Amino acid sequence: MNWDDRETIYQQAKGWVLEAGKEIRDNISDPLTVTTKSNPNDLVTTMDSDTEYFFMTRIKETFPDHRIISEEGYGDEVSALDGTVWIIDPIDGTMNFVHQKRNFAISVGIYHDGIGEIGLIYDVMADVLYSAKKGEGAYRNEKGLLPLNKHKHFKEAILSLNHFWLCENRLVNETVMQNLVKTVRGTRTYGSAALEFAAVAEGIMDGYMTMELAPWDIAAGIIIVDEVGGNTMNAFGDSVNLLQKGSVLTCNPAIQENIVEDYIKKGRK
Ligand code: IPD
Ligand code: CA
Ligand code: CA
Ligand code: CA
Repeated sequence: MNWDDRETIYQQAKGWVLEAGKEIRDNISDPLTVTTKSNPNDLVTTMDSDTEYFFMTRIKETFPDHRIISEEGYGDEVSALDGTVWIIDPIDGTMNFVHQKRNFAISVGIYHDGIGEIGLIYDVMADVLYSAKKGEGAYRNEKGLLPLNKHKHFKEAILSLNHFWLCENRLVNETVMQNLVKTVRGTRTYGSAALEFAAVAEGIMDGYMTMELAPWDIAAGIIIVDEVGGNTMNAFGDSVNLLQKGSVLTCNPAIQENIVEDYIKKGRK
């Protein structure tokens, strides 16, 4: 992607993200239509689909040759990341959106020939936009994010993870994971993968790990974390595939080996 194209696409994408976010904020008190998908806790609202529809129509009108991977069904069938592909989660953290009316985000990652070029994560209610263009650093609103602390000690790390790691699960021995959480300084669970990536990029969390995420949960976050020197991989340290679901670890490289080699691989089932 040449510079001119990328800047135009970035400005356009940023404008749509802010517009979609304002629409959600303006209507946050409206009654919600909530339905469930794969299980009773897998929620979706009309706001999820309306927001995705908004992006789909704007992108198709403005960039007819771009393709879309997205959660709620308006995207294309994409089997390879050639050309320009928008990977969109219209609301990441739908459970938070429904129950808390905050702590959710719009996530848009734009890839060109498989390379992550533009990442946007918008914390809608806080009105905070995390953004990055490959090679140009990452931002929290207008403020540049600092490179991650290369000297971070594992024992002083805060990790974002959910309870599934500590309950009996298919991936990793739960006792090993319990030892991991006892060793680090603390753990958090925010309930929005995109905001958890943003927190890692900001350096307020040192890692985020989850057993299964979809491309739209992580596409923007990977680009933003990468710009501050963070790494994203699957739980066993291998590369993530943006065309399928899988486990994900994004972290400060200073603690990557501790997590992957000392715990997850040792506890692998
Ligand atoms: C979910 C959130 C959540 C994560 C789930 C995701 P959604 O996305 O990111 O934090 O634990 O795995 O599916 O469904 O709210 O867009
Ligand atoms: Ca969902
Ligand atoms: Ca999501
Ligand atoms: Ca979603």
